[in-house]
Amino acid sequence: MIEPIALTAGNRVRFLDQTLLPQEEVWIETTDAEVVAEAIRSLRVRGAPLIGIAAAYGLAAVAANSHASDRGALLAEIESAANILRATRPTAVNLAWAIDRMLNEINGARDADEVRLTAVREAMAIHREDVDGNKRIGKNGAELIPTGTTILTHCNAGALATGGYGTALGVIRAAHAQGKVERVLATETRPLLQGARLTAWELVADGIPASLIPDSAAGHMMNRGAIGAVVVGADRIAANGDTANKIGTYQLAVLARENGVPFYVAAPLSTIDLATASGDAIPIEERSPEEVRAIRGVKIAADGVEAINPAFDVTPNRFISAIVTNAGVAKAPYHESLAALFRSEVTARG
Ligand code: MRU
Repeated sequence: MIEPIALTAGNRVRFLDQTLLPQEEVWIETTDAEVVAEAIRSLRVRGAPLIGIAAAYGLAAVAANSHASDRGALLAEIESAANILRATRPTAVNLAWAIDRMLNEINGARDADEVRLTAVREAMAIHREDVDGNKRIGKNGAELIPTGTTILTHCNAGALATGGYGTALGVIRAAHAQGKVERVLATETRPLLQGARLTAWELVADGIPASLIPDSAAGHMMNRGAIGAVVVGADRIAANGDTANKIGTYQLAVLARENGVPFYVAAPLSTIDLATASGDAIPIEERSPEEVRAIRGVKIAADGVEAINPAFDVTPNRFISAIVTNAGVAKAPYHESLAALFRSEVTARG
C-alpha cells in the first residue's frame, strides 16, 4: 500500500509529486517549508489529511535542520514556517489542525533540543494516527455496505489523499477485502482529474474492479439502478454535519437522494471542525480559471472565455446518510452524534 509521504532518516520531507501521476512517479525531498508550501498550493501534495501531515513534516524538517541553538530563535523559525504553510489552502481543516497540534506540543518543550525531538515525534505520530484511523474508518464503513454493491466515489480520498490507505477508498478497500464490492465507479473529477489520474491508479494497483465515468454520467447511472452506494471523503465537516468536499459532491448527494441511493461521507475526526457551526461558514477555495480552460497545459476552451473554478462545494447534512469516522459512525442529528464521537474518543484515550 502506497504511503505518499515520509520523513527520511535525515529529517527531510519526502513526497510523491501527484501532479505527474499516473504517467510519472517522481519523489521530491526537501527541508524547506517554502517547497512544501508550494507543493500544497500546486496540489503536488493534496487531500485534506495529507496536507495536514505534509505541514507537520515540514515543521519537523525545519526544526530538525535549523542551526538555531537557543529555544526562542528556533521557535521563531518554526512559527514563521507555520505561517507560510497555514496560508496555502483554506478549505481543508486538517491543515490548521495539524499545525496547531504541532505548535502546541513544540511550545511545551524546554530547550532547543527538546523542541527538535518533539517536532519530529509529533509529526510522525500525526502520520501514524492517520493511517491507523483510516483502517478503522474502513472497518466501520464496510459494515454499511451490503454484499454485491457497486460503489460510486468522487475525486480521490485514497491512500494518496492521506497518510496511507484512504478514507472513502479505505471503506472501499475494507469492503472489497470482505468480498462485498461488485465494482467501483470513479468519477473523472474535472478540472484536475483526481478521479481519473489518482483514484483509478489506486484501484487498478489494488486489483479492485473499477470503471471510470465522466462526472456527468452519475445521474444516468443512478437512475438506471447501477449504483448501490456513494462513498466520498471530506475536506471539512461542520458541527452540524454539513460537508465540504471536492466540487461536484453536492450534486452527487442530491442525485443519490432522488434515486434512493445511500450517500456516505468518510473522514477522520481531524476533518471535523466543531468550531464551525454550519457549511455556510466553511471557506471555499477559488482556484485559477486556467485549470478549467486547459488540461495539463493543453488549451480546451475558446480563446478569451471567462471561467469560474470553485474547488469545493458544501453538501447540506440532510443529504448525508451517515458520516463514517475512525471513532465510529455518526447519523443525524449530526450536531449531537459528531460531538458524541469526540467525547468517546477523549474517554478512549484516557
Ligand atoms: O483539491 P484536492 O485534490 O486537495 O481535494 C481534496 C480531496 O482530495 C477531496 O475533496 C477528497 O474527497 C477529500 S480529502 C480525503
